[in-house]
Amino acid sequence: MDLKESPILVFDSGMGGISVLREIVRLMPDEKYIYFGDSANAPYGTKDMAQVRQLTISCVTNMVKQRKIKAAAIACNTATSAAVKTLRTMYPSMPIVGVEPAVKPAVMAEDHACVLVMATPFTLKEKKFHDLEQRYLDQARIIPLPCPGLMEFVEAGILEGEKLDRFLRDLLSPYRGKGVTGIVLGCTHYPFLKKAIRKVVGPSVQIYDGGYGTAKELQRRLKKEDLLREPGPEKTGSLEFLNSSGKEELLALSKRLFTLPEF
Ligand code: DGL
Repeated sequence: MDLKESPILVFDSGMGGISVLREIVRLMPDEKYIYFGDSANAPYGTKDMAQVRQLTISCVTNMVKQRKIKAAAIACNTATSAAVKTLRTMYPSMPIVGVEPAVKPAVMAEDHACVLVMATPFTLKEKKFHDLEQRYLDQARIIPLPCPGLMEFVEAGILEGEKLDRFLRDLLSPYRGKGVTGIVLGCTHYPFLKKAIRKVVGPSVQIYDGGYGTAKELQRRLKKEDLLREPGPEKTGSLEFLNSSGKEELLALSKRLFTLPEF
């Protein structure tokens, strides 16, 4: 079979990568997609390097073996920091894109920006983030904010309500009135909580995520490798959700998050 016809894998520790998948499918609707969420082992963001690396590599290699995928998006900041380099060495001819906190647009948006980066403890501890932070330190104030416990709301399908509001108020209130100009959502689960975050921080703070940038990069790589599916009247894209938990309710939640009108 022509490799162009093979599916693209979009991977995350759970439901978060669906925020990236939405952008990817919007940009390339004619492709075939497999979304794999490792909810049985989530959260990744509070685990250590050896665990996150092993989990990510084992999920991706299993999919590559079973489904002859042509490209992969590691739609998880945590898994990207831990394993994207290793995966690229393992599959040198396969386009593999990762995600990283969208610090650049938040810094560039204004002079002397003050940027709060919400992400998992893992992402913010890793070298990849420190290198990114280093690049902008002379132009902006960058405040890393680890958010353990936040992704669990999305995994439970909770995108609004008193409990979430309270959690976010406790997390973000210390930064109110401190001149924060932008918030970077450095975990792919958080875009689903954008409305709830906006309620706490108010309308003047810009909120950034990296989903669209990742989709554009994946498209660029597929084009470059001549792997984009040829459009044709008989061809339509497809999307399959898989989840390591095997739970029906998580597959239903995946579909709900994918089809949410906005967030
Ligand atoms: N969605 C993942 C990310 O972008 C993290 C969630 C987790 O802790 O598993 O970092």
